[in-house]
Amino acid sequence: TAMIHITRRERFNAAHRLFRHDFTDEQNLEVFGKCSNPNWHGHNYELFVTVKGNIDDNTGFLVNLKSLSKIIKQFIISKLDHKNINLEVDFMDGKLASTENLSVGIWNELNPQVRQLGADLHCVKVVESENNFVEYYGS
Ligand code: NI
Repeated sequence: TAMIHITRRERFNAAHRLFRHDFTDEQNLEVFGKCSNPNWHGHNYELFVTVKGNIDDNTGFLVNLKSLSKIIKQFIISKLDHKNINLEVDFMDGKLASTENLSVGIWNELNPQVRQLGADLHCVKVVESENNFVEYYGS
């Protein structure tokens, strides 16, 4: 039986602000750029979740992509879509709302759920804009 990788894409849009409380607005602009805008802004994010494992000979699948989509929506998208990442997302509480931290947070939420589907999480990729994306492989 063959070990393969499979990826599901989901989308969400969310607001955030990159800033430190101990910086002035000017310092935040200097370090974080436009994403430090005090009045928030949004991104249309794309999330790519890649899982790995062996093909189940009974189904020809690694995992049922409908099941994978369901857990991503239940544990991630429902918490992020149309939300403010700084203020409303429990797994981002107390963290800078960067795409880097978001990727790690999503990994930590999804990892046990993917295990229950009988696969291993391989990569969480969060695309913030056409030119910027982050990948996290769990370490
Ligand atoms: Ni931003």
